[in-house]
Amino acid sequence: LRARLTVDRARPVGPVSRRLFGAFVEHMGRGVYGGIHEPGHPQADEDGFRRDVIDLVREMGVTTVRYPGGNFVSGFRWEDGVGPREQRPVRLNLAWHSTETNEVGLHEFAAWLERVGAELMLAVNLGTRGTLEALDLLEYANVPSGTTLADQRVRNGRTRPFDVRMWCLGNEMDGPWQLGQRSAEDYGKLAARTAKAMRQLDPHLELVACGSSGAGMPTFGDWERTVLTHAYDDVDYISCHAYYEEKDGDLGSFLASATAMDRFIETVVATADHVKAVRKSPRTIDISFDEWNVWYLSKVPAGLAKRIDDWPLAPRISEEPYTVADGVVVGSLLMSLLRHADRVTSASMAQLVNVIAPIAAEPRGPAWRKSTFFPFATTARLARGVSLRVDVDCPGYDSAEYGEVPVVDAAATADDDGAALFLVNRSRTEEAEVTVDLAPLGVAAVGEALTLSDQDPYAANTTDRQDRVRLRPSPRAEVTGRTLRVTLSPVSWTAVAL
Ligand code: AHR
Repeated sequence: LRARLTVDRARPVGPVSRRLFGAFVEHMGRGVYGGIHEPGHPQADEDGFRRDVIDLVREMGVTTVRYPGGNFVSGFRWEDGVGPREQRPVRLNLAWHSTETNEVGLHEFAAWLERVGAELMLAVNLGTRGTLEALDLLEYANVPSGTTLADQRVRNGRTRPFDVRMWCLGNEMDGPWQLGQRSAEDYGKLAARTAKAMRQLDPHLELVACGSSGAGMPTFGDWERTVLTHAYDDVDYISCHAYYEEKDGDLGSFLASATAMDRFIETVVATADHVKAVRKSPRTIDISFDEWNVWYLSKVPAGLAKRIDDWPLAPRISEEPYTVADGVVVGSLLMSLLRHADRVTSASMAQLVNVIAPIAAEPRGPAWRKSTFFPFATTARLARGVSLRVDVDCPGYDSAEYGEVPVVDAAATADDDGAALFLVNRSRTEEAEVTVDLAPLGVAAVGEALTLSDQDPYAANTTDRQDRVRLRPSPRAEVTGRTLRVTLSPVSWTAVAL
């Protein structure tokens, strides 16, 4: 099958924010303990952080990391994670039914981020706590010195403030699973009050109000409208969360997940802009897509083992094996984010290590890349400058979930040094021959072309075979005259740097 792409430098969507390539580390399963932190591991540094994991996170090009939750944050007392380690309390992690030792807290995580070279995005607990505790954390983190809390931070070993810019005002507050679930009215008022108070302390914060926890929630749509009606003037972002999975062997719909992400983003943008219009506000609210990924949530056993005497330490939860098809979908979700770069200016792949993660780390064993690592790392490296509109002229197919969808999906970016194309072939059986006129892009040669594909779309990397799935140079990307021709294998993701 053939596809013709039209892409033109003169049709930009918007600048590609580096914050699009963020990730998320939650105190969940083996994300922190046994993930980024494993004292005694042969690769552990002096603070117990695994160097092999740090190297992989750096290779992935992660720019920001949202922390410490997720659902965990709604039961978290931030004070538990600071001060002398031996005095830190051991608590129950109610969200993930496990034991929280608090060995890793704000200081340790910020130190890890410095090694990784990424920005910290903090979430405050608006589930079981409120404005005052959020203010305390902000004072502890951002005030240079001279107050009890700022001086406590200094005594705890951190002279310079953490200077955290991005803050999430709670997490998924409409979820029945959330500690302290609230109505949109209650949460909207609380978010507005807390945002105002936090800005009174530090005016230059960037604040994220919780959107609905998913586009499928009964609250979705009206939640965003109500929350923003209360908090529009006080926040900068509304969050989106979405996880996609293949259901009942319907690979065709799964491969079209970016269609759902496109619609989700456009619906939230429309809702935010509706509130803008009603309020006649000069401000525009952007989207922080701070949880997105492929996650086989329907296979997570309903309710974790909930025995009163069984609170395991860092249990294995949602350590997805990730297939080539999952990697292709992750690549196309990144393309959806790029397509909406004018309004999605922050995003976090959820999560980073072991839990729903592109990186696996075995206890006392190796760390390796899962299939989803590759499209993330390559997009983070190649997507530069501005995102460009791409018209795709190609056949479609009928998907059970989304109706007719194009077989080829595409996104493009360009800066002064060149351009990048990101392509997905959703056909399960046919190659796609893609042609692109390069003249409007002002480029004339292929720099590199990399593909994620396999004869078996369900191939995955495992402990025993850690590089079964990897990126391969695409031999079939060439320029003749002013035309780029790329042949895409069935169920594949490809990046072409020009
Ligand atoms: O990322 C895992 C969980 O998914 C998060 O804790 C929660 O916010 C979402 O439901």
